[in-house]
Amino acid sequence: MTSSSADRYEFGKNWTRFVKTSANDERVDIAKRHILAFVGRDNLNGLNFLDIGCGSGIHSLAAYRAGAGRIHGFDYDEDSVSATNIMRQKAGEPKNWTAEQGDVLNDEYIASLGKWNFVYSWGVLHHTGRVWHAIENASKTVASDGLFYIALYSEDVQTDPQFWLDVKRKYNEASKRRRWLMEWWYIWRFVMGRNPLMFPYVLVRIVRHRLTRGMSFFADIRDWLGGWPMEFTRDADVISYLAARGFEKVNIKTGEACTEFLFRRTA
Ligand SMILES: C[S@@+](CC[C@H](N)C(=O)[O-])C[C@H]1O[C@@H](n2cnc3c(N)ncnc32)[C@H](O)[C@@H]1O
Repeated sequence: MTSSSADRYEFGKNWTRFVKTSANDERVDIAKRHILAFVGRDNLNGLNFLDIGCGSGIHSLAAYRAGAGRIHGFDYDEDSVSATNIMRQKAGEPKNWTAEQGDVLNDEYIASLGKWNFVYSWGVLHHTGRVWHAIENASKTVASDGLFYIALYSEDVQTDPQFWLDVKRKYNEASKRRRWLMEWWYIWRFVMGRNPLMFPYVLVRIVRHRLTRGMSFFADIRDWLGGWPMEFTRDADVISYLAARGFEKVNIKTGEACTEFLFRRTA
């Protein structure tokens, strides 16, 4: 399932808003615990962390706090890089953490990054317009025996991808006011199930949402409705694509919109 529009969602503006209004130590700690739980470690000591599509920078900061050695984040969107730099400033601008503008589809840029023993790209590769090339390029940065942690929108979970591709197209073409209305349409239809008695549940969801990965309910709704370009992949296709490139699956978490995969490069 491939998007056809050439337009891009302004991810970085959403992340800058998140960093300025919501990011705090509690959320960074939740993000850190999420990464460590998925990779089954107590810390990231001895690992260098490449954050592809770093977005808000919260996961780079989480990796820094988890003890990663060198950290490098890059993102296509300059505003995402600025958001990440705000997070770097919060951490006292550590010398072992860099962030810059970069495109995972740019083969020369990818080659210039060298090899990393922990490559993280959560919710990114399906927003490039060329998901398989993005997966391949990201995988090329993984060192021998290194970890590759990616999350991708799953067609196994989302049985009507065309519906969402249409919604996203409309959201990206909409005015600011219409976008706001679409965000509440989403909440009314998919969070409240069109039942006004469910409004207290929305408040519970807002409070609990940070427990997922330290993220914000509203920032993630904007990201979901806006995220464009957009492609869905099947979990089994991702596993076999990477198996053919020398990666074994170490962990997988399915059932949410994004399937999380942890691979190790074996060859
Ligand atoms: C949904 S956000 C995820 C951000 C972050 N990884 C997280 O988990 O919160 C997707 C990010 O991917 C970035 N992105 C999209 N296309 C990209 C590309 N070709 N190269 C690098 N980053 C890209 C977007 O700008 C955006 O910041």
